Amino acid sequence: MNSPIAYLNNEFMELKDAKINIVTHAFNYGTGVFEGIRGNWNDQSEQLYIFKLEEHVERIFNSAKIMRLDPQITKDQMCQILIELVKKNNYREDIYIRPIIYKSSEIVGLRMHDLDDDFLAYIVPFGNYLDPNAGIHCGVSSIRRIDDSMVPVRAKVTGIYVNNSMAKTEAVLNGYDEAIMLNMDGHISEGTGENIVIIKNNTIISPTAADNILEGLTLEAVLEIVKNHLQINIERRSIDRSELYIADEVFMTGTAAHVTPVVSIDKINIGNGKPGLLSKKIQEIYFSIIRGENDQYSKWLKKIY
Ligand SMILES: Cc1ncc(COP(=O)(O)O)c(C=O)c1O
Repeated sequence: MNSPIAYLNNEFMELKDAKINIVTHAFNYGTGVFEGIRGNWNDQSEQLYIFKLEEHVERIFNSAKIMRLDPQITKDQMCQILIELVKKNNYREDIYIRPIIYKSSEIVGLRMHDLDDDFLAYIVPFGNYLDPNAGIHCGVSSIRRIDDSMVPVRAKVTGIYVNNSMAKTEAVLNGYDEAIMLNMDGHISEGTGENIVIIKNNTIISPTAADNILEGLTLEAVLEIVKNHLQINIERRSIDRSELYIADEVFMTGTAAHVTPVVSIDKINIGNGKPGLLSKKIQEIYFSIIRGENDQYSKWLKKIY
């Protein structure tokens, strides 16, 4: 197997050689923005499909703008670099593409201005992140999701993920698969790398940006799927913690997690403690789309081979 290829300092190179200096600002202070983009492999058609590439690039550019980071390249150039990187790595399995725009100056000092910026990217093979079949057990975290008045939650800032990592570790050490984070008001915000959706009386409900969620591209796709294929109402509003326990179904959405049913929260079964029927239906449509089996949604996919 060839060594994986990464992109750093405007060139492709072997991942093992893609190193940054220990004084790098982003390494010391978390001053970078990133994306997670999936390439989904279809064994039958022997094809790799990148999901919503342009939308992810749009989001990293927005993150960069908020954080006073200059991507150094255009959106089109970034898309082309990422596609070329995927081709060079030649994976024939599910992958995760990680572009980062970061403060690359080798300088000690707290600020976002008057620093150099740079762009890098790498790819890792990436199977299931959570269990989409059996569903997952979640715990409400004692660690609150940061507020937009602290660090901009719309931006995928590398440093933010200390908050999410602490919540995830607390959940896993307590025997759960994933954490559900509350915002500073005590409303439901999201998982540590996923948005959350509840279904109650044939209505699908999910929090808005006002509850400090990262505005997920998977959630956006799922809501379009629901609109097009299912007779369910959609509500975007704040959700109370107690609403979770009496929901008919709960699921999470995310690039890593796809559509993952939640079967219990704080050791209380959701519904009958099995993945819900609507969640499974939505998941089934979503999986067929991301593996290139539904022509109606080919606009979301970039074919690699
Ligand atoms: C904190 C957080 N919330 C939600 C999501 C889901 O977003 P998306 O569906 O765009 O991957 C992610 C993943 O990027 C995330 O890191």
